[in-house]
Amino acid sequence: MMPAPRPTDSAPKRLFLLNRCRPTSAAVAAIEELEADWIHLLVARITADAPHVASRADWRRRLDGLLAEERAGSLVGTYLAEKATHAQLTYVVREFALDGLTEAQNFFPAIPRLPIKAQMAVMRVLIDEFGCGNLKQAHSQLYLDLLAELGLPQDLESFLDTTGDETYHFLNVFYWLTQRAEHVEYFLGGLAYLEASIPHAFTVQARACARLGVTNGRYYTEHLHIDTFHMEEMQLAIKEYEAARGLDPVKVWVGAVLVSELIGGAFDAAVERAKEAA
Ligand SMILES: [Fe+2]
Ligand SMILES: [Fe+2]
Repeated sequence: MMPAPRPTDSAPKRLFLLNRCRPTSAAVAAIEELEADWIHLLVARITADAPHVASRADWRRRLDGLLAEERAGSLVGTYLAEKATHAQLTYVVREFALDGLTEAQNFFPAIPRLPIKAQMAVMRVLIDEFGCGNLKQAHSQLYLDLLAELGLPQDLESFLDTTGDETYHFLNVFYWLTQRAEHVEYFLGGLAYLEASIPHAFTVQARACARLGVTNGRYYTEHLHIDTFHMEEMQLAIKEYEAARGLDPVKVWVGAVLVSELIGGAFDAAVERAKEAA
């Protein structure tokens, strides 16, 4: 059980703790208040800036463009892959521990909000995230193996005070996308983006692990493989959603940009702080 948030905790950390506690009416009211000051503003800004996404095919083209742009240049990623020290990599692994250890748990509330064929596609993703029911293959277990090799703690609570606000924002966004976002298309776009970006994004950490002799980097290499399937499942989920209910492709795009901004911001901040700390 997560501790209760303290008034001295930052807003993103309080929101994370509330998102993981028993959802009493008081807790949900506090969550909605914190989200109103943050995610609602972000979504409004991204929506105002969004292009006219004309169709599902247009959405896929634009997603490919966004991913290509991101692949082209990340100095921060190149640094982590090629130059970071063991201590700096360890810092980044610690920074994302709350994500790795809770991976995919917060996606489930989206399931009942989807039409049945879209549910099946998302469930196939979720089953993989949980190692097809085999603990040794569960992505959270792969993260525990990595933490153990790096001499880091194995429990969630130990990371609450070392996680940055940018990372908390990334963690918190999926609780909103799955439970409170008015349109579930935001979630479909956000997760479709994430699954499609990881096969490239995690090459950074995979290269750093290989270069620094970290042998439990399977958390990363497994994602390079499995997320190439997950990205297709998410496109199928969007297709099935459209077939059953019709689709607003702009909302799918807004979800993708939202997650892209938040994970990008969290990653850049983590590497910069790792450099400062070393
Ligand atoms: Fe995963
Ligand atoms: Fe995945």
